[in-house]
Amino acid sequence: MTSPPAGKPFYITTPIYYINARPHVGHAYTTMVADAVARSRRLLGQDVFFLTGTDEHGQKVERAAQKAGRSTPDFADEVAESFRQMCRDLRITNDDFIRTTEPRHHRATQELWKRVADKGDIYKGDYEGWYCTVDEIFVPETQLVDGKCPTCGSRVERLKEESYYFRLSKYQQPLLDFYARNPTFVQPDFRFNEVRTFVEAGLQDLSVSRTSFQWGIPVPGDPKHVMYVWFDALTNYLTALGLGSGDPQSESRIQRFWPGVIHLIGKEILRQHALYWPAFLMAAGVKPPDRIVAHGWWLMGGAKMSKSLGNVARYQDYVDVFGVDGLRYFVMREMSLVGQDANFSDDAILARFNADLANDLGNLVSRTTTMIHRYSGGVVPELPTTRDELDAQLEQQLTNTIQGVVRKFETFEISAALQETWELVRTVNQYIVKREPWALAKRPDARPLLEGTLYRAGDALRVTAALVDPVMPEAAERIRSMLGTSQESWAGLKPGTLQPGTRLGQTTPLFPRIEKTVEELRGMTSQQDAATPAPQEDKRISIDEFMKVELRVAKVLEAEAVPKSKKLLKLKVDTGADQRTIVAGIAEAYQPEQLVGRTIVIVANLQPAKLMGVESNGMVLAASPEGGLPVLVAVDPSMPPGARVR
Ligand code: MSP
Repeated sequence: MTSPPAGKPFYITTPIYYINARPHVGHAYTTMVADAVARSRRLLGQDVFFLTGTDEHGQKVERAAQKAGRSTPDFADEVAESFRQMCRDLRITNDDFIRTTEPRHHRATQELWKRVADKGDIYKGDYEGWYCTVDEIFVPETQLVDGKCPTCGSRVERLKEESYYFRLSKYQQPLLDFYARNPTFVQPDFRFNEVRTFVEAGLQDLSVSRTSFQWGIPVPGDPKHVMYVWFDALTNYLTALGLGSGDPQSESRIQRFWPGVIHLIGKEILRQHALYWPAFLMAAGVKPPDRIVAHGWWLMGGAKMSKSLGNVARYQDYVDVFGVDGLRYFVMREMSLVGQDANFSDDAILARFNADLANDLGNLVSRTTTMIHRYSGGVVPELPTTRDELDAQLEQQLTNTIQGVVRKFETFEISAALQETWELVRTVNQYIVKREPWALAKRPDARPLLEGTLYRAGDALRVTAALVDPVMPEAAERIRSMLGTSQESWAGLKPGTLQPGTRLGQTTPLFPRIEKTVEELRGMTSQQDAATPAPQEDKRISIDEFMKVELRVAKVLEAEAVPKSKKLLKLKVDTGADQRTIVAGIAEAYQPEQLVGRTIVIVANLQPAKLMGVESNGMVLAASPEGGLPVLVAVDPSMPPGARVR
């Protein structure tokens, strides 16, 4: 195994979060993952700098403060504190917490601006166009979807104001050259391709200042303008190293940790990180960052968990029920960091908690430590010199798992690392079952075999605690205290180093099973922002209300894909009374040609709505399992179009 040399600098960042709303599971996720990566690097002996913080400027925050009837700085202080609190709640080991309203950040950002301006890459002009305040991005007219933001679907605003521009167009070729020289710049690969394709299509200069509001960092020499919030925000990664501080030590910090940085982000802000940021830096004469790792989204009810949609899960609710480690384990096991989106649901977290933590790991811990207490007086026995095939296999798997987990952490495959660790956990459980220590204990001649079993199970548990440490620091600590061992570095981790004679601590249940139904759990976890509580009244409807929905049999006459949409199909259907167009979100499950001639069920009296520019007159009924593809509701094909379904 080739581990990085001890003391090698390692810098990891999370996005700095907007403070228009309090943190939810989405923000918690990136922060917990960055924490696990940082912890793994510390365990390898690297010199880690881990940064998180808050992005506090911009119109969105200014408006949120106004809406709350608060002064912007007061509002900023309060919400920023809730992000700091999240770090404490989730055992985040960040080395610094940056707020863009701090003087050190103003200095750094103005310094970077000056360097870019000195290079001649900033000029004054007029901006006229569309702006999405939710994402704080300029949206070219051609990219609007139904007049709305293509990223978040919010309404965009028309801006017409004097603005400074950054010569982004000049950096098209330098960026492409940089990408070619750095094939691992963006991970995963498929996201890198999206960036490349975008840049290859050509870049326009970017508006980097605003005059219509004040809550931002003034442009040096022209304070009527405040800097575009992304120019300001991205600079945070250098502020924390001391850019613009005038302190000679900071130069050495920049040299130490830059450009060897990993920016961990969600996929929706990839363009800003993989394109704007390296371009700004090239213009300022600073090397672009080493790597951007962009993960997918947590979805809830099929859509991105987000404050603006109101479908957010509060991390606190899940910590209350599953503990910090339960939540950390679930999110890191369930969603591949270098993969696709994943569903956040109570069913999934409950199932994983009980199966993986209460059952697999919990059993291993309680069996192993109870056995050593019962058959060896609570003291780790000597390892006998003999070993059989089963022992050899276990030892081999331990060695392989250590190497596999370290390697997978280095390539950000944390879910796969956990999967491999759990294969080990299951093997050790089986090893104990096969050895039957309770039977061996009754045979004095089997004492060496019994001691070998106790030692090896204890040793495997020691390794397991070390391997889960970055993801579940609290559980790792508790296992160590039950085993009587202390924290171990990953650098020298190998089987067979549990010290004979070690006295065990008391065994306590690690992850007691949660005997709740999902319904009970749902009552405890609000599944939405506490700021917008759902009314608790009786939600059942009367027969009259139901009958208002006109469900009818229809026959599909034509079907085709909706251009530029992955999910939508445009159907022409015969409803008995008319022929009409319905847009259905079933393109991932059905080919258009599979649908022609099918008898389906529709909601016939729905108000028309435009989807991706196509007017839909009704809705097709389909069943969608959690996280799965939709399946059309079927009726007997002999039913004529127009028949009422009730
Ligand atoms: N302020 C900018 C980032 C500037 S970085 C220089 C911003 N802030 S944000 O508050 O909107 O946070 C976005 C980040 O939060 C995402 O990139 C991701 O890391 C995390 N997430 C927010 N919602 C999420 C999901 N539903 N799923 C996964 N991560 C999510 O953008």
